[in-house]
Amino acid sequence: MKILAIETSCDETACAIVEDGTKVLANVIYSQVKTHAATGGVVPEVAAREHVMKMLPVINQALDEAKSSWEDIEAIAVTKGPGLISSLIIGTQTASVIAYIKNKPLIPVQHITGHIYSNWLETEEEVQFPILILTVSGGHNELILMRDHHEFEILGETRDDAAGEAFDKVARILGLGYPGGPIISKMAEKGNRAAFKLPVIMLEKESLDFSFSGLKTAVLNEAKAYLAEHSNLSEKFQADLSASFEETAVTILNDKLFRALENYPEVKEIHLAGGVSANRRLREKVEETLRQRGEKITLRYPKSLSYCTDNAAMIGSSGYFMYKKNPERFLELRNVYPDASMEISA
Ligand code: KG4
Ligand code: ZN
Repeated sequence: MKILAIETSCDETACAIVEDGTKVLANVIYSQVKTHAATGGVVPEVAAREHVMKMLPVINQALDEAKSSWEDIEAIAVTKGPGLISSLIIGTQTASVIAYIKNKPLIPVQHITGHIYSNWLETEEEVQFPILILTVSGGHNELILMRDHHEFEILGETRDDAAGEAFDKVARILGLGYPGGPIISKMAEKGNRAAFKLPVIMLEKESLDFSFSGLKTAVLNEAKAYLAEHSNLSEKFQADLSASFEETAVTILNDKLFRALENYPEVKEIHLAGGVSANRRLREKVEETLRQRGEKITLRYPKSLSYCTDNAAMIGSSGYFMYKKNPERFLELRNVYPDASMEISA
């Protein structure tokens, strides 16, 4: 079954064609990152205007790349939220019009479930449940137990900043640009992870929630203390603080993940998903911990870096598995509105 999927929740205009939830026939992403780098973050009105300009060309390119026509497409999937409302409107309205004109089922997809399904893309073998999932993005950060397709139990979430947001803010403090994750990661390679002792904030003993605002403040205080004695931040200082911050953030994520695993020994797989799952040190640390503990658990993270950050292929995959569970829900649906709720629902 071929699904055409659309994603416009933030600053990527994306369209993909996915077959049977796993095979990616096209994955077109128009990134607005250069536009938003000028303002150091996404300005919603600017993002919406770019979506308007790029939505149809991106859809046409996806059809071309997949060598598919509208007759080959069996359903349309679209991100309904959460995200920027002005951005979501472009995707949901485009998908609704296509579903109506072409008379195809419409599948509204919750964005975070999209990130979760990024680990099914290009995966040939059966994924084994139950799965412990760490979703780490710019806008959200959760620990989730998934016992079957589209059955999610939230074990923990961020009480303040998400991990990706912390990377973005630290990059801004260090004057490194936007988006912060990839830049901090690159700087960190040249720095000393042990140069600064930053707080590993684990909250209450049993808690599976996250908090990154204290870590961000600690980075800010180090930068202020340095600037009190120097006219600007040296490259060595930027690299050492990037490396120490990355190590601390990754340690918090890793330790929470394994704290959760203690409660659910039946877990067969661990999945990392979302923009921060692109982080090399995070992948390495989780791999290391699994090895040290002698766990026979499969670790997955998205097969391509373009599946970690926002893309439409993951929306196509999530939509497919939702459709398969209950096609009647979508057969007559031709209109969907943005939904700002953060609730992770099918
Ligand atoms: O999943 P995503 O594209 O958007 C949301 O749904 O929020 O995640 C974007 C986030 C940004 O905060 C970015 O800084 C972070 O993912 N990111 C990374 C890396 N690549 C992207 N963070 C750490 N290391 C990376 N290599
Ligand atoms: Zn996302």
